Amino acid sequence: MKEALLIVIAYLIGSIPTAVWVSKAFFGIDIREYGSGNAGATNTFRVLGSRWGTFVMVIDVLKGVAATSLYILLPYYMNMDNMWDRTNFMVGLGLAAVLGHIFPIWANFRGGKGVATLFGMILAIQPVVAVLCVGIFLLVLYLTRFVSLSSILASVAFAVFILVIFNEKEPLYRAFAIAVALLVVLTHQKNITRLLRGSESKVPILKYRDR
Ligand code: G3P
Repeated sequence: MKEALLIVIAYLIGSIPTAVWVSKAFFGIDIREYGSGNAGATNTFRVLGSRWGTFVMVIDVLKGVAATSLYILLPYYMNMDNMWDRTNFMVGLGLAAVLGHIFPIWANFRGGKGVATLFGMILAIQPVVAVLCVGIFLLVLYLTRFVSLSSILASVAFAVFILVIFNEKEPLYRAFAIAVALLVVLTHQKNITRLLRGSESKVPILKYRDR
């Protein structure tokens, strides 16, 4: 079945461990042994600086966009009357990429927390909501300087936008909105513990301003 093949390809795209490969190729280290130990853009900012952090963030977002957009390879999905059939397939493709990012086959299944790839997926499916979530993320980041808290609240905001504000009726899409919030909370368990203990690190560039 062509759909199943595309889901596998989406997983393989999501599995590209950008932060791990960048840290190994250009710095001879494994990013997972430094900072928060997370193979994501935030930890790359923290350990390798803003240029590489931005690079990892862009690639990880593009992984989500590319994997979610794989549906265009099946002309059937381009011309379908019921847009939910296409959207649900896009959700499947995007989630496969996010799972690849979290459990990458190319990096011993130890990847990142899925936020950037999730964002890329949402950007491909519902760009307006994606931009609103970025607004929430930046507001929380400005107020608290915690990337983790900003990610968690932006993902919860995504669920609230879909379920309450836009009041989407499609059951699978409603389940997806809840899954996004749950997934981000689950992957941020260590961050939540650190936030509660008061030991979570803040955005380095703003921390510098405090000195
Ligand atoms: O997207 C990951 C971010 O929310 C937290 O990353 O490295 O601070 O655990 P980190």
